[in-house]
Amino acid sequence: MAKEEQLRKLEEKIRTCKKCPLGELRTNAVPGAGSYKTKVMFVGEAPGYWEDQKGLPFVGRAGKVLDELLESIGLRRDEVYITNIVKCRPPNNRDPTDDEIKACSPYLDIQVDIIRPKVIVPLGRHSMSYILKKFGFTPEPISKIHGKTFEARTLFGKIVIMPMYHPAVALYRPVLKEELKKDFQKMKEIINNVV
Ligand code: URA
Repeated sequence: MAKEEQLRKLEEKIRTCKKCPLGELRTNAVPGAGSYKTKVMFVGEAPGYWEDQKGLPFVGRAGKVLDELLESIGLRRDEVYITNIVKCRPPNNRDPTDDEIKACSPYLDIQVDIIRPKVIVPLGRHSMSYILKKFGFTPEPISKIHGKTFEARTLFGKIVIMPMYHPAVALYRPVLKEELKKDFQKMKEIINNVV
């Protein structure tokens, strides 16, 4: 099956998933959106209110920050793939539980296998922790490792992982927005070198 068909079929499957109790609470599951051909994947935490309403990732206030950051390095949403570790909204936007991450993360693993990105950008500590562990690295506080790169060797080549602060932090901590802007500039260099 062609890559695009595999990804779209998986997205359809996620839309009807009932593997964990969040499946009964959501309005819409949010599988992810963007290009199946991309070299760059962004992985957030879980959908919030607007994402749950629309079935699309990062379309609320944090999404506006992400759009601004993407624009600052000349990238459009349809040139990257954006998803979350947990695909359904936790009630009141609480943190996802370990059980929810365990139930849902196999979908992210398959998305990575299909897309085969060269760069993965975990946004925020939950995503950073899951992705670093998945590729054999030890998670550290996001304040210490944001903007640093980790090179994972996989069967389909090298993947550069660059954790960043979650864009939502920029809404209430302007200094961290500056960090995000700097990290995006670094990422631009990396993308230019791997693509
Ligand atoms: N925060 C996330 O982590 N993901 C979204 O899709 C929206 C907000």
